Amino acid sequence: MPDIAPGSKVLALGHYQPANVVTNDDLAKTIDTNDEWIQSRVGIKERRIAPDGESVEDMAAIAGGKALAASGLSPDDIDLVIVATCTLETQIPNAAAVVAHRMGINSPGAFDVNAACAGFCYALGTANAAVRAGAARNALVIGAEKLSQWIDWTDRSTAVIFADGAGAAVVGPSDTPGIGPVVWGSSGDKADAISIKDRNDHLYQEGQTVFRWATTALHPVALEACSRAGVDPAELAAFVPHQANLRIIESIARKLGADKAVIARDIVTAGNTSAASIPLALSRMLERGEVRSGDLALVLGFGAGLTYAGQVIEIP
Ligand code: UT7
Repeated sequence: MPDIAPGSKVLALGHYQPANVVTNDDLAKTIDTNDEWIQSRVGIKERRIAPDGESVEDMAAIAGGKALAASGLSPDDIDLVIVATCTLETQIPNAAAVVAHRMGINSPGAFDVNAACAGFCYALGTANAAVRAGAARNALVIGAEKLSQWIDWTDRSTAVIFADGAGAAVVGPSDTPGIGPVVWGSSGDKADAISIKDRNDHLYQEGQTVFRWATTALHPVALEACSRAGVDPAELAAFVPHQANLRIIESIARKLGADKAVIARDIVTAGNTSAASIPLALSRMLERGEVRSGDLALVLGFGAGLTYAGQVIEIP
């Protein structure tokens, strides 16, 4: 069957961050770390941490509400809600149905995607396919995470990195494709490199294994996403990779050769918010005027699994 819509595009973005700012100096009061190490090794100056009682679903609903308002659509226009997250407090119910109900979206298809830090790009690829195929008129895609509830706050190898937040995108039909083909994949042989061993445990990461993989295996994925969209990296106005580590971001950006692109460095003030990091960064860049409507951006997620996904999109 032919696609119903010739393309889909991101119609609007929205984001939410908890109010509570935690600086590197704040962390150095309770664990053996310091501002110089964190900034030079990871690139983070400060991050936002949600208080007890503020959930993944709460943050997702606020970011989703902002994206929906900016799109000019009403809740009744949304047929599909996808929440990319790996940090729910409990496994059941899923976040998407709860978030949709809170937003007044009536009976949409609603499911969560757990592809960790690649989750938003997986969800965006799925929403693109659903809208083009006629399975949804419009879709709401949200990345939302509360990493803080899965972190051992005495473990300096993870406590300084991860943070909380949410970002969202409304996806609707378009006469020309505004979301390029997704390039996605996984390396399950390295599944143990980032994991939570059991329900009473905390997030564990073999930092150097992931670092080596991210700085060697991902630029070909970035280049393939550009090639499949028919876009030369030199044409990109923005490169928005998962905000894992500033050194990883800059390494991939160099190899990509996106010489004119603004590189997302949202990690500096937002930390690593896993599936939320890409829509959060992009929405904040748009808000600050660093990118403009109609610009082309490459988004690239990667993380636990190990999983990765990326595509070129037109900025709403
Ligand atoms: O988002 C999901 C995907 N995740 C990633 O992409 C993460 C990829 N990995 C990384 O970003 C980096 O590996 C980390 C930021 C996690 C760690 O940076 P690193 O440069 O690989 O540091 P390291 O683990 O090799 O540690 C270097 C030194 C060690 O001390 P010695 O053994 O050299 O004396 C650590 O004990 O730094 C020490 N260290 C710290 N020192 C101060 C480790 N954590 C800290 C800390 N503060 N927070």
